[in-house]
Amino acid sequence: MAYSDKVIDHYENPRNVGKLDAEDPSVGTGMVGAPACGDVMRLQIKVNDEGVIEDAKFKTYGCGSAIASSSLVTEWMKGRTIDEAEQIKNTSIAEELELPPVKIHCSVLAEDAIKAAVTDYRNKRSS
Ligand code: FES
Ligand code: FES
Repeated sequence: MAYSDKVIDHYENPRNVGKLDAEDPSVGTGMVGAPACGDVMRLQIKVNDEGVIEDAKFKTYGCGSAIASSSLVTEWMKGRTIDEAEQIKNTSIAEELELPPVKIHCSVLAEDAIKAAVTDYRNKRSS
């Protein structure tokens, strides 16, 4: 199966790979796995007092499409509010990366990871 140029670009030059301090109250961490293939994605966001995402990092143990999806969403999330980030849909990711049908679940993983990271951040804030 051929990967699109955009997938290859993100795979070869992944943006924002790394780790934020999960204990930091301004950091939300989302860790999700894909039942379809067993891949795992960790996505972290650092949110300022206005609810704007200032930084985002990811680490993905998975295929090229999963790595590209998480790399792409870290770029998309920076500068957005957490409410806006939650609106990012896997269909937009799949469209941007031109993912074939068998790789759609890789973009779903990225959407799930965003939601998990935002939820973790909100839970920390309310506790
Ligand atoms: Fe697991 Fe994609 S199927 S790496
Ligand atoms: Fe499973 Fe990509 S996340 S094949």
